[in-house]
Amino acid sequence: MGLLVMNSSVSCLSPPSSPSSNKYYRFLSHQFNSNIRSSSPSRLLMMSSSSSSGAATHHHRHRSSTTTTKELVGNTKITFCYGRSGEATIEKTHSMAPQKLEIFKSLEGWAEHNMLMHLKPVDRSWQPSDFLPEPESEEFQDQVKELRERCRELPDEYLVVLVGDMITEEAIPTYQSVMNSLDGVGDETGASLSPWAVWIRAWSAEENRHGDLLNKYLYLSGRVDMKQIEKTIQYLISSGMDAKFENNPYNGFIYTSFQERATFISHGNTAKLAKNHGDLKLAQICGTIAADEKRHETAYTKVVEKLFEIDPNETIQALAATMRKKIKMPAQFLYDGQDDNLFKHYSAVAQRLGVYTAKDYADILEFLVGKWGVEKLSSGLSGEGRRAQDFVCGLPLRIRKLEERALERTKSRSSIDAIVPFSWVFGREIEV
Ligand SMILES: [Fe+2]
Ligand SMILES: [Fe+2]
Repeated sequence: MGLLVMNSSVSCLSPPSSPSSNKYYRFLSHQFNSNIRSSSPSRLLMMSSSSSSGAATHHHRHRSSTTTTKELVGNTKITFCYGRSGEATIEKTHSMAPQKLEIFKSLEGWAEHNMLMHLKPVDRSWQPSDFLPEPESEEFQDQVKELRERCRELPDEYLVVLVGDMITEEAIPTYQSVMNSLDGVGDETGASLSPWAVWIRAWSAEENRHGDLLNKYLYLSGRVDMKQIEKTIQYLISSGMDAKFENNPYNGFIYTSFQERATFISHGNTAKLAKNHGDLKLAQICGTIAADEKRHETAYTKVVEKLFEIDPNETIQALAATMRKKIKMPAQFLYDGQDDNLFKHYSAVAQRLGVYTAKDYADILEFLVGKWGVEKLSSGLSGEGRRAQDFVCGLPLRIRKLEERALERTKSRSSIDAIVPFSWVFGREIEV
């Protein structure tokens, strides 16, 4: 998992720069006594309102919900939270039928042999210090100087994308929590020996190095505002993410397959750009991280492949449901205490630089549909399963058409869409 941005110019794929999430940020701003510039009555009302929501997540507790209702549909608990504006957010939990737990139990032997092999043992893993100046060395100061020389030519717009990617990687506690919320595969004790739990811990430990390395490199570069970046990380981990897994491992493994491939693509692109800008060390760093993401993609896509083999009807419906909800990016709640649309702006720069685009989104889906043989599924599908199959197979083309239309709209605009200051680069302005 890791960074991840989505094209903000394609409306059907846009992440929720949602009013409700912004209310939450404002609450946090208040809670942490940060600098809130606006004191409009509505904003103050939002900050002072207390939620009556009994929703299970930290995130939802801080929304300005006034009423909630809960319904049990089968095994699935659905919570409706109605805000002051009447908007409703729906939380679905534990949507997998209890009898399916047996499937994941029975796959433990398979996971041990087919998933854990894609982890690298610690003593054969790279560490951030392999790529950084050596503080114990006499040459430390010279090495730092060289690093700063190399970074000098990196444009602000590139730095903004790299910072956004790094911050997203730094929110690893969130991703580990979300994975552990999955029924049948989560780590029940904190040190469970189930291969699913072993994977989640070791995967998180591998991911942890990504944010660590990028953070230290950017810190030494002197090109970015570390205090603002650190605030953004604290906000992001506090906000969590809204992946809509419903504690359902089918959804979780489909989502992570998508995300790992997306991070493989985007880190690969920041590597290429670093090379173009003359920082070969940074290119090596981004490329090394991308290679980790590729291994993770292989492991997660293998799990989904196996689920398609033994339970195609459930798996195709989970894939369709995941795509209908759209892949919400881990950094959807990005906030620096200043820009209410920070995720949208960061995504727009990533799109413009070609680091992660709407085309990549469609490409990933098409790749996964091909890899999992979704078009060829025939036996074991119910009517609903077939409808899900049709929807998923037709989706990449629909996304591409929307992307083309969005591009045309962009081209027909005569001038730059907007220039936005980014606190991460000391408020310097960047085209979005
Ligand atoms: Fe990864
Ligand atoms: Fe990562």
